[in-house]
Amino acid sequence: MKIVPLTGLMGAEIFDADMKNPDHFEQIKNAFVQHSLVILRAQSITPDDHLQFAKRWGDINVNRFFTALETHPEIAIVLKEADQTGAIGEEWHTDHAYDQVPALGSILHAIQTPPFGGDTAFCSMGAAYDALSDKFKDMLTGLHAWHSSRHVFGEAQADSNAAASGRIGNAQKAVQDALHPVVITHPLSGRKGLFVNPQFTTQIDGLDKAESDAILNMIYTHCQKPEFQCRVRWQDGDVTMWDNRATWHKAINDYHGHRRYMHRVTVEGVPLQAG
Ligand code: SIN
Repeated sequence: MKIVPLTGLMGAEIFDADMKNPDHFEQIKNAFVQHSLVILRAQSITPDDHLQFAKRWGDINVNRFFTALETHPEIAIVLKEADQTGAIGEEWHTDHAYDQVPALGSILHAIQTPPFGGDTAFCSMGAAYDALSDKFKDMLTGLHAWHSSRHVFGEAQADSNAAASGRIGNAQKAVQDALHPVVITHPLSGRKGLFVNPQFTTQIDGLDKAESDAILNMIYTHCQKPEFQCRVRWQDGDVTMWDNRATWHKAINDYHGHRRYMHRVTVEGVPLQAG
């Protein structure tokens, strides 16, 4: 197995690994903890293999809103057809941040990729935190923020392109609100990182909306520096696993007229500890 860092701060490509092979798991896990996301190139897997790999990490966190694979309800379909305009996950976000116990990570299997574009962009929340000034870090320490599914997957979004085409649904189930520390200590690496994101975080607890928006927008602008980011350029058969407690991600919707079809499995995490 060959593990090659993707950038100086996050991500690693893994070549010649087989996610079906239990003997490869420890090395993949170590790379994941170190790099926050791993791209397992050229996997040959079935939906059962995908689930079996996910279960080595923990229980499956079944997504309430994505359309699931008929034969495997734990597998969410991430699809954009050639004639559709909106992609799923176009805004920077962290999967399942609105759950009381946010997901450990997500495992995305590329089944059909477009001839160009369709990358996924990632941002390192540990690197973004490290680059803040000590005074700003002190100010964030002890703050908590609210996260919600309501404004993204609830009735307000029912007229979205993804909902209209049946790719997301269950708007009535979008009732999750959760309070998490703004700065967390990562449960696997022990590294401090930011845990707020532009899509699901609604407000810093105890601050006025205007105060909260000012701080969150400053953090979001800071996090979007290219220095903290990497992009996954997909090929059919690739599997990328990212850590939802250490990264944001975003689907780049730049392949209109082409189909992109992926399967996603999300793994349960643990309660987050303040950093
Ligand atoms: C997601 O947000 O989980 C989907 C990312 C992607 O399709 O690149």
